[in-house]
Amino acid sequence: MAQGAKEIKTIGILTSGGDAPGMNAAIRAVVRKAIGNGVKVKGIKKGYQGLLNEEIVDMEKKDVSDIIQRGGTILGTARCTEFKLPEVQERAAEICRKHGIDGMVVIGGDGSYRGAQALARHGINTIGLPGTIDLDIACTEYTIGFDTAVNTAMQAIDKVRDTSSSHERCNIIEVMGRNAGYIALWCGVANGAEDILLPEKYDFKEQNIINNIITNRKRGKTHHIIVNAEGIGHSTSMARRIEAATGIETRATILGYMQRGGSPTCKDRFYASIMGSYATDILCEGKSNRVVGYQKGQFVDFDIEEALNMQKQIPEYQYQVSRLLSQ
Ligand code: ADP
Ligand code: F6P
Repeated sequence: MAQGAKEIKTIGILTSGGDAPGMNAAIRAVVRKAIGNGVKVKGIKKGYQGLLNEEIVDMEKKDVSDIIQRGGTILGTARCTEFKLPEVQERAAEICRKHGIDGMVVIGGDGSYRGAQALARHGINTIGLPGTIDLDIACTEYTIGFDTAVNTAMQAIDKVRDTSSSHERCNIIEVMGRNAGYIALWCGVANGAEDILLPEKYDFKEQNIINNIITNRKRGKTHHIIVNAEGIGHSTSMARRIEAATGIETRATILGYMQRGGSPTCKDRFYASIMGSYATDILCEGKSNRVVGYQKGQFVDFDIEEALNMQKQIPEYQYQVSRLLSQ
């Protein structure tokens, strides 16, 4: 423990924002690592909303048994708009103190980190863990849930492709990711899609897609898969326009929440376990206002403000490869 650092006796843990497969593995790791370090753990239900409602329970090692393989989050999650208010944040820190919570692990995305930052400002040592299927957190190359989500989407797209070929149709499949195109990029490449539409890159020249469909059909391709990102959206109206322009039956499928659920992959279970342990260790060392990330093969941590100011873009080389391979 760093000299002069506050001794942590009890830590709280909460999940916030959209749930992601692997969050349970992270919760399990935090609970077991903390108890192993001689620190008590309290679980906070339903994110910051549950904290304000004092939905707080003691957690023992046995409370996290049989959860590593389960999707979702056993703690529940919520979006809590009022947590942006300074007086509400102050009240939340008071609630933590009332329950003896002197350290906190927050699992969520960028929005949740802002809340974590506020708790740290009010004297609760807080560490963030990257939990989102979107992969849109700049300080890390890995986020908890992304691997499961892309594998779920990839399997679904393979299935759509079978029927696309049988019916000689064009199929648009819309994947999640809010404003980020990482799920679309990865699935686009992994599913061998003919067109991959990313919000960061799309030029809205639909005629190019139409030309591509017609060219491919002339070359004898029986299917045409377009992976469209949620950040572009409008897949159903796009399908109608493409069908009218090409004369080829076109259908849209919006994969939606199935991408957020399901049993986490080995990678999500493993990385979430290591990250949960890492967050607990640095909390016990007296660190605060930091987030855990994964970069160049290492688990690392950053100041939250520094992390939130980082920028992330679709890697140009990966994008160019995705375009070339889809032709
Ligand atoms: P994510 O954490 O996945 O980015 P959101 O952006 O919905 O998801 O944020 C999750 C929650 O974090 C919000 O419902 C709110 O409780 C909290 N939050 C978001 N932005 C802020 C902010 N600026 N200040 C304090 N808390 C915030
Ligand atoms: O951030 C995860 C995510 O699933 C995004 O991909 C999507 O835009 C959003 O959450 C949906 O949020 P909600 O659960 O509020 O509909």
